[in-house]
Amino acid sequence: MASIDRCDPVILGHVLAEHQDLFNRLTTARRTFAAEAPPHPAERAALQACLSSLRDHLQEHFLLEEQGGFLEESVARMPRLGPAMAAIVAQHPTLLAELDTIIASLSSSTLSAMAWQQAGQAFAGFAAHMTAHERSENAVVQEGYNEDLGLVD
Ligand SMILES: [Fe+2]
Ligand SMILES: [Fe+2]
Repeated sequence: MASIDRCDPVILGHVLAEHQDLFNRLTTARRTFAAEAPPHPAERAALQACLSSLRDHLQEHFLLEEQGGFLEESVARMPRLGPAMAAIVAQHPTLLAELDTIIASLSSSTLSAMAWQQAGQAFAGFAAHMTAHERSENAVVQEGYNEDLGLVD
């Protein structure tokens, strides 16, 4: 069993792997959104599938975090991190709703150039919010374990 002062490598591995996976999924979608013209139907369907998969994955990821795990463990080790953890968990429904709005905006039968650009901007905003969210989680874990885990820039 890991000492209270040492980082549990299983927990650290989980944080890094989960957040890296989310980052990869965001990057894949961002590449498609970089196109200036609305995508062809097959490409749009692939993007929608990618976003739906990201949505499912995120929901699962958030549930795991809410059910206890590295965040809860960090707060148990350092109770003053409780408010930061509560603020992080409170962002989960907002982030999911943001992504739902983007997915819905892509499902109309015709997608104008304007609608495509707006969806791209909305996705850029969502990606920025997700990145800030994960960064604040990494900061809580790093502080909770009282150790420089190399998780925060
Ligand atoms: Fe989270
Ligand atoms: Fe997370």
